[in-house]
Amino acid sequence: MAEIICVIGNKGGTGKTTLSHMLCQGLGLLDQRSVCVLTDIGREPLDPEGRRYLTADARSRDALAKVVDKIRALNKWMGVIDGGANRGEMDRHLYGLAHLVLLPFRDSHEDIRTVMQDLETFPRALAVPMQWPTNPWAREAADKLVESQLGKYHHRILEPVFAISSSKLLLQKRIPDSLPSPLANACRRVAAPVLDILRIDHEEVDIDAEDAMEGADMAATARATLEPEAVLGATH
Ligand SMILES: Nc1ncnc2c1ncn2[C@@H]1O[C@H](COP(=O)(O)OP(=O)(O)O)[C@@H](O)[C@H]1O
Ligand SMILES: [Mg+2]
Repeated sequence: MAEIICVIGNKGGTGKTTLSHMLCQGLGLLDQRSVCVLTDIGREPLDPEGRRYLTADARSRDALAKVVDKIRALNKWMGVIDGGANRGEMDRHLYGLAHLVLLPFRDSHEDIRTVMQDLETFPRALAVPMQWPTNPWAREAADKLVESQLGKYHHRILEPVFAISSSKLLLQKRIPDSLPSPLANACRRVAAPVLDILRIDHEEVDIDAEDAMEGADMAATARATLEPEAVLGATH
């Protein structure tokens, strides 16, 4: 049997497409076969060449039904459906299809307000903090915002996906021949908890590893602030 995962949410720019592709790449790196399904009519299909997953174009209702049927018929495959924004009816349709539903959101009041509504509308869905700040102060502020606004949903919020500029490479029509290893590690860290939720065995991935932020934006700043001697150096 195949698993269907949907990445939805009513707001644009929250990271649905990025999360879908990072998840598929991570699944591939953890030896799981997956298809990233495009439903956003405003986007062009991406070339599967060089990716650890297939891509499918399901920008019409008919195409979506066909693609989902095809994936369901495949044994042990996973279909990750990248939803579009502001499409309540489509989101409800995708929610009905999926075993697992993910709602990415960024650390803004607007994103948090929207994800709160989506968590209410979709009681099985899990929220994913996306493009999370790596600078310690910014991260603390973002975590506090989530705690104060989304505290009652804390058991439905997954580990954050940190801001990592190289994630843009996965959204290129054709990806480069080799991807930076911090991006590969970030993709594994996205996929591992999803496999755990679906109770699918996989090789171990150290989610809390020191290098979680390596290569993520502002990692150097984060390290410098965590190690005062690196900043103060000569004066001590
Ligand atoms: N984890 C991340 N790190 C860095 N940039 C990100 C991350 N997630 C999303 N982005 C950026 O945010 C913007 C919106 O992301 P996208 O995945 O296209 O959102 P959506 O599909 O919800 O509209 C894009 O420019 C994307 O590169
Ligand atoms: Mg998108």
